[in-house]
Amino acid sequence: MSVYERHVFVCTRGEWCPSIDGDGIGVHAALKEAVAATGLKDRVRVNHAGCFSQCGNGPMAVVYPDDVWYAALTPADAAEIVSEHLVRGRPVERLRFRPVGMGAHKLERDPDGRPIGRGAPWPAGGER
Ligand code: FES
Repeated sequence: MSVYERHVFVCTRGEWCPSIDGDGIGVHAALKEAVAATGLKDRVRVNHAGCFSQCGNGPMAVVYPDDVWYAALTPADAAEIVSEHLVRGRPVERLRFRPVGMGAHKLERDPDGRPIGRGAPWPAGGER
């Protein structure tokens, strides 16, 4: 028997996701709050995590065992991830990270620190 049905890790300890490329700290807090409000605390664990080596695409989160990665999250996305993915088992497609291949996908930065090639506004929060 598994200890948790699903485990959500949010990059809150990396250099970029927590506050520079968006509000990773807020994403973590909002996910925890939504999980608790939905009554999933005994089935789903939301944890802080260090850098996933996907810097520039964040704030990032990953849901295991589904191996579903989310990119450019905002705290406002948490309710949908919980209601659709964690309750109904349907990953939120519009928020999914779709890297090309396995491994690290750190983006280079321009002189102003903006990630080059980012597929979402920077910092996160605007139109996708
Ligand atoms: S800082 Fe979040 S993936 Fe690297």
